[in-house]
Amino acid sequence: MNILMVASECYPFAKTGGLADVISALPKALKTQNVNVSVVLPLYKTIKQNYKTTFMAYDYVDLGFKHVYVGLHHLKQNDIDYYFIDNEEYFNLDNLYGYVNDGERFTYFNFAILKILPKISNEIDIIHLNDWQTGLIPYLLKTKYTNLNIKTIFSIHNIQYQGIFPKSLSFIMDCPYSDVLEFDNNINFMKTAIMSSDIITTVSPTYKEEVLTDYYGYRLNNVLKYRYDDFYGILNGIDDIIYNPKTDSLIAKNYSDKAFIKARQFNKNNLQEYFNLEKNNNILFGLVSRLVDQKGIDILKDAILEVIAYSDAQFIFVGNGNSNYENFFRYLHEQYPSRVACYIGYNEEIAQKVYSSCDVFLMPSKFEPCGLSQLIAMRYGTLPLVRETGGLKDTVIPYNKYTNKGTGFSFRNYDAYDLKECMFKPILLYKEKNIWKNLVQQAMKQDFSWNASSKEYIKLYKKLLSK
Ligand code: GLC
Repeated sequence: MNILMVASECYPFAKTGGLADVISALPKALKTQNVNVSVVLPLYKTIKQNYKTTFMAYDYVDLGFKHVYVGLHHLKQNDIDYYFIDNEEYFNLDNLYGYVNDGERFTYFNFAILKILPKISNEIDIIHLNDWQTGLIPYLLKTKYTNLNIKTIFSIHNIQYQGIFPKSLSFIMDCPYSDVLEFDNNINFMKTAIMSSDIITTVSPTYKEEVLTDYYGYRLNNVLKYRYDDFYGILNGIDDIIYNPKTDSLIAKNYSDKAFIKARQFNKNNLQEYFNLEKNNNILFGLVSRLVDQKGIDILKDAILEVIAYSDAQFIFVGNGNSNYENFFRYLHEQYPSRVACYIGYNEEIAQKVYSSCDVFLMPSKFEPCGLSQLIAMRYGTLPLVRETGGLKDTVIPYNKYTNKGTGFSFRNYDAYDLKECMFKPILLYKEKNIWKNLVQQAMKQDFSWNASSKEYIKLYKKLLSK
């Protein structure tokens, strides 16, 4: 079985979010089960600068009046073949996204891959696409490359981002036109992919049900309902070799799920010192996130002042994005310098230090297709406090005071009052040292590796090939 995985991000080459972690870890897990998988990405500037890729071949694609260069580069790493699509104009840039011609850039990416495919392999059985940046490929296989007998599977990591562009973008698409490309009078990459792929998946069972509703579906819920029989929800995992508190070299002291109390205390004091917080053993809340609407920062803003006033808790906020949220965290820090710290930016080392030191990890998301941070937090013994949505609902077991079972805390409605009430649960429970220790242990012992989920993907691949 030969799988070609296509995406716009993959750790460690290029990352803005969880997609990159999935595209890094899933192929490795598939490989251990004898699935032959390789990965295709754009050759971004940072990849050019930091990796020694080998030039393999070149070709051209037509985009309207332009005849455009397609370079193919290769790199083998961890026994996986990575292919990179090279074009200076489209990808040799500082950022991955956010340019006025993103529609053109990713139209190019999709056309370029199919054009250069024979130079990658003539034996691809399935192309596994991810998010809107790859959404034209299944359509092109059905309309332009009908001689290729390749099946497609399209995975939705976040339905909010659909790749919506004016219809004039079709002028540069050298393929038959049809209304499959359109949604509401625009070109819509994600809708195109949902309509043209053989199988569609998303990254948790709960999100799969949620996106069929008006609230979560971002207007594509009915398109997804139309494809309901071919739509699956498969939970993401994490790379349990990278994310392992026993071996992680970014954290101050390593520990296991058997002996963690002293090491975590040490890590906490270390982080408090780093951020100039008061050195103590009060409960410490952490947050590591892109600061965007999805992540529930607006209800956190409304809830937190009261929590600060009525507890002795400390807080560390790490992330960047919306400047309102950034400034709010800066303000909290200025107002309560011994209790609130923030790091505006993305920094892997600080993130890992938060996972290995904090007691509670905040994730009050408005929606969360899967979420990986809560999984990492649990593996490191930081109990997640989440809203019951998407993958958060599927992975965090809320503390049950009758059985003492649980791996975190949760609330249901997207509401600041409910969040605030929920934050007081761990604050009170933290004083019961034995119960807390037991919860940390339960969280750390969960299996969030890709073991089970990669098998689900293999089942779908097999199903496709038998069709
Ligand atoms: C997106 C989603 C996140 C998910 C990730 C990987 O970033 O927002 O919930 O975990 O993709 O699938």
